[in-house]
Order: sequence, then structure tokens, then C-alpha cells
Amino acid sequence: MKRYDVVVIPGDGIGPELIEAAVGVLEAVAKTAGFALALEHHEAGASLYRRTGRVMTDETLDACRRAHGVLKGPVGDPAVRAPDGTEAGVLGGVLRPGLDAYANVRPIRLYPGVTSALAGRAPGSIDYVVVRENTEGLYASRGRGFVTEDVALDTMVMTRRGVERIVRRAFAIARQRSGAPGDRRRRLTCVDKANVLRGFAFFRDGVRRVAPEFPDVELECLYADAVAARLVQDPGHFDVLVMENFLGDILSDLGGGTIGGLGMCPSGNIGDRAAYFEPIHGSAPDLAGTDRANPLSMVLTGAMMLDWLGETEGASRVRHAVDAALGDGSIALCPDGTVVQGTRGAGRAVIDRLSR
Ligand code: IPM
Ligand code: MN
Repeated sequence: MKRYDVVVIPGDGIGPELIEAAVGVLEAVAKTAGFALALEHHEAGASLYRRTGRVMTDETLDACRRAHGVLKGPVGDPAVRAPDGTEAGVLGGVLRPGLDAYANVRPIRLYPGVTSALAGRAPGSIDYVVVRENTEGLYASRGRGFVTEDVALDTMVMTRRGVERIVRRAFAIARQRSGAPGDRRRRLTCVDKANVLRGFAFFRDGVRRVAPEFPDVELECLYADAVAARLVQDPGHFDVLVMENFLGDILSDLGGGTIGGLGMCPSGNIGDRAAYFEPIHGSAPDLAGTDRANPLSMVLTGAMMLDWLGETEGASRVRHAVDAALGDGSIALCPDGTVVQGTRGAGRAVIDRLSR
């Protein structure tokens, strides 16, 4: 029987509840699909920072590098700040460069039974993937900005290698999909502001250089402001979108807002050798311990991890179970994005539908 070593970082706020629900689902799938998960829990994030002044230990980072997979809950606490005023309890600045997890893959899909904030959208009519560059761009300035009393400076970095590898990954993802919901064409949208900044023109140039390797995927290049509007007005046009780090952070949350909220949004931070998987939202300290948070972001994140492990059949069983539970109303979302059945109840509903 295959056995996978998985590092679990429960995280802060609602993190531990979401992880509990997702792990329950993963273990149920493992049992019937014939593989085993050896879970190793590690503390990291705002709680660890508060106690020790460090957000993650070297041992945990090493364990993440060695593990077959890493499942991470949301971390952070707005009250826990670094001396420079930025949030201290978050891990993106450590794990993304630390694992060279350069591709932040963020699927945006409207599930059955979920009411979109956009009027008249049927399930499946929104189904695209934001591929966010994860190791450079504007966030390369994380922890390095320059500030005086009168001036603040952050620098956006693009490298040839960094751009080409994210673009190849995005094209490869487009190849595995069956096109945009609107017209079933395989399409990569390069999102930038090449009309304003040279760094973005460099990014677009990188996309154009790589494109001939993927003649079977249609390429379009659009400006980010126009894309923001079109993601609202015509989301069915999009299949895979590739973009710089900061733009990807913003536009993926915009996408989440159209499919029932961030509680529906899983993600993978995927390099060539290591990867970690997390929901795209924060730790919602106000909801912590109330058994109300939507666990589906974390459950679907678990499915993405199964794909990475090569357990693709298990992954699609999880997605189908989520589909079924939302479709038959055994999981329903409240207008504020929480779940009617509670975090635990929603987790159980997914497990129930795995076996049908
Ligand atoms: C995300 C988050 C992080 C980011 C924050 C919490 C540092 O917003 O993963 O999207 O900006 O990357
Ligand atoms: Mn974000």
C-alpha cells in the first residue's frame, strides 16, 4: 500500500477546525482508495511567532521539503505585527521561496447549489484557473521595502527564468483542461499592465517567447484592469490566466467573490520538487472556535494535494462529493459565507457522499 508523508500545519484562527474537517475527508478517501497518509503536525504562523518570535522553525521547513505533501491551514493574526508594521504571522514569505514553490495555482469554479454574486450564473459556467507567479513580482520586495519619514519604496522584480517557468506551468495546466466554459477553447490569458510598466512588458514578452511551444493553446494578452471587469461581466471567457504575484493575489480573490466567497477557494503552491497546499483566505479570528466556517476551501485544497501525490482518482472523488453535497443541499452557504450545517457537519456531509 502506498504511504505518503504529509506535513500538516493547522495554522491560526479557524485553521485547526478546517484542517480537522479536511483530514477527516482525506482519511476516508485513503481508506477506500487504498493508500495511507502519515500525518505529522507542525505549529507555524502567528501563534508560534507570538510565543517564540519566529513564524516557522528550520525543522518544519526541512520537514516540508522532505514530505510528499504539505497541507496548511490559514495562518496570521492582524494583531501580530513585525517591527516594520507588516503582519508577522503569515508564511508566504517563508514557504514560497523556501520550497521554491513558484506557481500559485488557484482554481475558481462555481459549484452547484452556490449562488454567485453575479446574476444568472449556472454551475460550471465559471471555471478558470488563476496561475499566480509566487516568488518574484512586487512581493519580492516583502521585508525589503525602503521607508523614510517622507518616502516609501517597494521594487517589482521579474526575471527571464522566473517568467518563463510560470508561463510554461500555466500553459501545461491549460493543456490538461478542456477549455473555457464559454466556448470550450483552450486559452491562456496573460494579465499585465504592459502599457504602463516595463516590468510587465517584460512579462508579456516572456509569455510570447514561450507560446510557440504550446500551439494548441490560444494565447491572449489583456490588461489587468480590463480583466477585472471581464471576470465579473463575462467569466465564462476565461480558462487559465497567468500573472505577476501581486496581480494574482488581488484577482484570485475577485474570482472567489464570484463563486460563493473565499471559503470556496483552494490553492496549491507548486514548485518542481516541493509543494504546499492551502486555502486562499486568512484565518478569520472572529469565527474561530464557532464551528461556522466553511471547510470546503480546505477540503478542496486536500483534493489538490492528492493530485500532486498522484492520487488523482481520490482527488476527483473528493470534488464529486463536494459537488453532490452542495447540489443536494446537504451543505448550504449562508450569505456571509459560513455554512448552515457548521464546519463539522459540512465535513461529515462530504464524507457521506464519498461512498455513494
Ligand atoms: C495569499 C495571502 C498572502 C499573500 C498574505 C497573507 C501574505 O494574501 O496567500 O493570497 O499576500 O500572498
Ligand atoms: Mn491573498
